[in-house]
Amino acid sequence: MTQINQLTIQHFRNCQQVQCELSSGLNLIIGDNAAGKTSIIEAIWVLATGRSFRTPKTQYLIQHQQTALTVFAEVHSSHTKIHTKHHRLGIQKSLQHTQLRIDSETTSSQSTIAQHLPVQLLTPESHKLLEEGPKARRQFMDWGCFHQSPDFMPLWRNYQRGLKQRNQALKKKLPKAQVQLWDQTLVENALKIDQIRQSYLERLTPYLVTFCQALMPELTEKVICQYRAGWPKNTEDLMQLYQLNFNKEHALGHTQYGAHRADIRFKFSGQEAINTLSRGQQKLFVCALLLAQASLHEKILNEPVIMLIDDLPAELDKTHRLKLLELLQVLKIQHIITSTSKSLIPILNPENTHIWNLYSGKITRTN
Ligand SMILES: Nc1ncnc2c1ncn2[C@@H]1O[C@H](COP(=O)(O)OP(=O)(O)OP(=O)(O)O)[C@@H](O)[C@H]1O
Ligand SMILES: [Mg+2]
Repeated sequence: MTQINQLTIQHFRNCQQVQCELSSGLNLIIGDNAAGKTSIIEAIWVLATGRSFRTPKTQYLIQHQQTALTVFAEVHSSHTKIHTKHHRLGIQKSLQHTQLRIDSETTSSQSTIAQHLPVQLLTPESHKLLEEGPKARRQFMDWGCFHQSPDFMPLWRNYQRGLKQRNQALKKKLPKAQVQLWDQTLVENALKIDQIRQSYLERLTPYLVTFCQALMPELTEKVICQYRAGWPKNTEDLMQLYQLNFNKEHALGHTQYGAHRADIRFKFSGQEAINTLSRGQQKLFVCALLLAQASLHEKILNEPVIMLIDDLPAELDKTHRLKLLELLQVLKIQHIITSTSKSLIPILNPENTHIWNLYSGKITRTN
């Protein structure tokens, strides 16, 4: 299993110094408003991804009066009893500089840290995955593609580079030939990205159906995932589409079609999930998406993910909290959960549960 054994956070928002040994099961952090609960979840996310989910600006993350933040984790994963991996991962961010470390060596590769620390995040904002534009859904899908296909990241980087150049040429209204210089790069990479995404969603769908049934048995219809590539369905030749569409894109000043416009639509009985599910069901649906992704990740890489859940009671009612916690135990997923009240979280297995109180960024173990 994959788990964080030891976590150290320094000078991160209101957390001067947080140090804790985590359990392989439930890690429950209890604190009042402004105690620093989201900050702890955010710090782990920053280590795993290099970014915050609350702000793009490092200045807001570094504790006032300090010059740099540090997050450090000892991560352990065992594929089998014999084959185990142990890594010490760290990030230090100042206003000018980010330093990443793997096992005491400096690295420039955030994606290697991400591979060693596969975390998923559920926050009170997570239902926006359904509500907002396609970006969050693309990120969700690409998280899976990144972890399961080593080709994905280089393809995506090449695509982004080509797209940036092409968009600049369009924006500057450069001659047609200079825009089209990038078409081949875009087409080649987009088609491969498209293949990886399609096959990922195909593999994910049966898991999603299972977890939707487990969390929302009241829904009689199965969920349908409709993948959209980022260009019209009937397109046979993407290169030709770029050529035919040139005048329009020239006027728009950016690339209209491509892998950067992909999306997924989730439907129940032919209706978009966002239009047919209640707010609570939307939250459960996002839980089902994450659990499906976690299960598929386990199946393919033989390595479970770590689940971060900020403010669980705000997410779900009592029955569904219990269901989710049961599923996390069964799936042997290490989970780090925050709540304002201990009584709202059922402790299913005291043996692998650690509970902390958090007060003004200071953490104390209570069990
Ligand atoms: N850069 C910073 N330096 C010091 N303190 C900060 C910084 N950024 C935010 N804070 C403070 O950190 C505290 C913790 O915020 P956080 O959002 O983590 O609390 P929380 O426990 O999740 O609260 P809630 O239950 O309201 O969601 C807040 O009081 C906030 O003002
Ligand atoms: Mg919070």
